[in-house]
Formats: sequence, C-alpha cells, structure tokens
Amino acid sequence: MDVAELVARFSTAAADDYPHKAAVAVINELKDDLDGVADAMSYLTGSGGNALQAFYRAQNLSLLKVRFPDGRRTPPHDHGTWAAILVLSGSEKNSLYKRNDDGSLTYERSVDLAQGDVIFMPAGAVHVAECTSDQPAIGLHVYGGNVLGLERKMWDPDTLEEQELDWSKYEGLAQRASAADKAPLS
Ligand SMILES: [Fe+2]
Repeated sequence: MDVAELVARFSTAAADDYPHKAAVAVINELKDDLDGVADAMSYLTGSGGNALQAFYRAQNLSLLKVRFPDGRRTPPHDHGTWAAILVLSGSEKNSLYKRNDDGSLTYERSVDLAQGDVIFMPAGAVHVAECTSDQPAIGLHVYGGNVLGLERKMWDPDTLEEQELDWSKYEGLAQRASAADKAPLS
C-alpha cells in the first residue's frame, strides 16, 4: 500500500455513478489493512493545518489524514459534501446535529468510533468530532468534493451562531470547543 494506490482507488470510486457508495466500499476494503493505510500516510503529520493533512484534492474528491490529539474537539461544522471517516488508531466521538432552516442546530446523537470503525455523513450533515483516547485519534477522511474550497458552515461552540467556515477563524473556535466539557447541546 502506498499513497498513490489510495488516491487511485478512491479516484475510481469518485468517478462511479454512486461515488459515496463506491468510496465507502473502498473504505470497508481498507479495514483489512489499517496498518498499511497508516504507513502510506505516515509522511503527513495530520495536524497543524490543512496543508499537513490533505494529500489529494480534486473537484469531486478530497483525501486527508486527520490527527486529533487528546483533548481536541472541533466546533460544529458541515463539509459541503458527503464525508466518510475510517479510524486508524485511537478513538473518537462524533456528535451529530440537524441544521434547522434558520441555521440553528438540533442535537441528534453521538457515535463512538474505535480503530477500524467507519462513519458516513451525507451532504448537509453537521458534526463535532473529538478525541476520546489518551493517544491521538488518527483517521482517513474522505470527502466528495474539494473540501478545503467548498462553501461550508461552522457554528460558534458557545453561542451556536452559524457562520461561513473561514479557516482564519476556525482555530479559535476549535480551541474554545476543546476547552468545553462536552460537545454543544449534548
Ligand atoms: Fe468534519
């Protein structure tokens, strides 16, 4: 397994008539070789900025290694497209929300993910991800578009005010989200 193979397999999936289903099928195949996937992405830190996470971006596909250290929690955000996560090591909790027509959020449920677990989120899904293990939660994140360029939303973790996802403001929200006891409304 090398990173070119990951890109090739997901690129084929992204060209399918049902790209999200094809991509999830590839992810399920990769469950048999979690170490191989981790090795293929080992040259990326997976944290410290998107340039250290993304290893492929096209109009119909993004592939990222994401590393959440212990204590790290995201603010609520969407992805502007479908998203799927394969946990390679550590564990994480995903809190899922419904976006109401006025931009407010309704908490729906939380999903705990351990090594080898997968979560799929349709376009429009809103979530908070947080590390729940002592060791970092490291995952392969797959998106059905150019996830760093799409129009996206994020929510202030304290006021739950909806705003455009602006990377220059995201980290401040993430730090406040991480300082909280739990995900908003959960
Ligand atoms: Fe996300």
